[in-house]
Amino acid sequence: NQLEMQLEAIEKGGYEHFMLKEINEQPRSIADCMRGRLDAKNGRLVLGGLRDYMNKFQNAERIIITACGTSWHAGLVAEYLFEEFARIPVEVEYASEFRYRNPVVSEKDFVIAISQSGETADTLAAIELAKSKGATIFGVCNVVGSSIARATHAGSYTHAGPEIGVASTKAFTAQISVLTMMALKLGYQRGTLPESRYIQLLSELETIPGKVEKALKLNDQIEKIAAEYKDSRNFLYLGRGYNFPVALEGALKLKEISYIHAEGYPAAEMKHGPIALIDEEMPVVFIATKDSSYEKVVSNIQEVKARKGKIIAVVTEGDTSVRNLADHVIEIPATEEAFVPLLAVVPLQILSYHIAVMRGCNVDQPRNLAKSVTVE
Ligand code: G6P
Repeated sequence: NQLEMQLEAIEKGGYEHFMLKEINEQPRSIADCMRGRLDAKNGRLVLGGLRDYMNKFQNAERIIITACGTSWHAGLVAEYLFEEFARIPVEVEYASEFRYRNPVVSEKDFVIAISQSGETADTLAAIELAKSKGATIFGVCNVVGSSIARATHAGSYTHAGPEIGVASTKAFTAQISVLTMMALKLGYQRGTLPESRYIQLLSELETIPGKVEKALKLNDQIEKIAAEYKDSRNFLYLGRGYNFPVALEGALKLKEISYIHAEGYPAAEMKHGPIALIDEEMPVVFIATKDSSYEKVVSNIQEVKARKGKIIAVVTEGDTSVRNLADHVIEIPATEEAFVPLLAVVPLQILSYHIAVMRGCNVDQPRNLAKSVTVE
């Protein structure tokens, strides 16, 4: 009715869809997530929920991360973060697989469950299973007081605010923000991350909301790219290292809301299959930022170009090499390699949003999908 429609318009805060509003909220939601926790100037990083469990965390033999969907992608980013900074082996598990395969879990494991809604049935069941085997369970949830938040021993909320769009955006970047803070804290406490480097990383992390703000300014450029590729039947997303999970998330966003088939792959795996799909009809989105795998990704771009694939590349500001190869380059601000996912995912969210809108899809409530999946 009339009143409901007016209320909804107010809730959307002038945006046409919740998803677009939530994409644009990210500078604030990431800052909210860090507020009161990160204080780089004084070299302080405090995660209240972690305090009583820091000992368990620091001495864990293994970290097991369990989640579904986009939250699982955040878990993959965390695998790179924890192993790089804290040198503890990490396993990232789909909750639906973990819960049914009689996994090896013990008191020495520290399990992190990631969930926006805190109500995903599979994730909840995975937690109960790990708990019954004596592991410590830490929750990274967005919804305060949710079932998962209550079922865990401790946790840190993402504080992204309510997320209405079914396709997760700001919850994803807030999850990564919490997990990044956890990894830095853990590395520092364990002595695997030297103090000077720790302080340097904390200061860079504080600049992320401002850099996301800058990435959002790419909207109009990306809308034009969307117009060019909106009728494509397939998309390939490729990235390496920290950008591999970003490739998966970019592909998932496109599938979810535009119903275009999209696959994310680690760039180096391209030669083991996906390369067979490449022809002039195939747009390939590369995340090719200036990091440790940059040169290798550039050669993957050359391989796609040689097969006449269309190349859309997310690159670091000022990049020139990729510009000569790609059909489109999208420049994001430079940051620490470990923090790139927080920036690189933004243009991919925007791209899928515009493609879906141009295809006339229901962006906020895509067919067959639910915001939280409370049944198996
Ligand atoms: C559903 C949603 C996804 C979400 C996934 C996990 O599939 O549509 O956006 O990533 O569930 O949800 P959770 O609330 O546990 O993060």
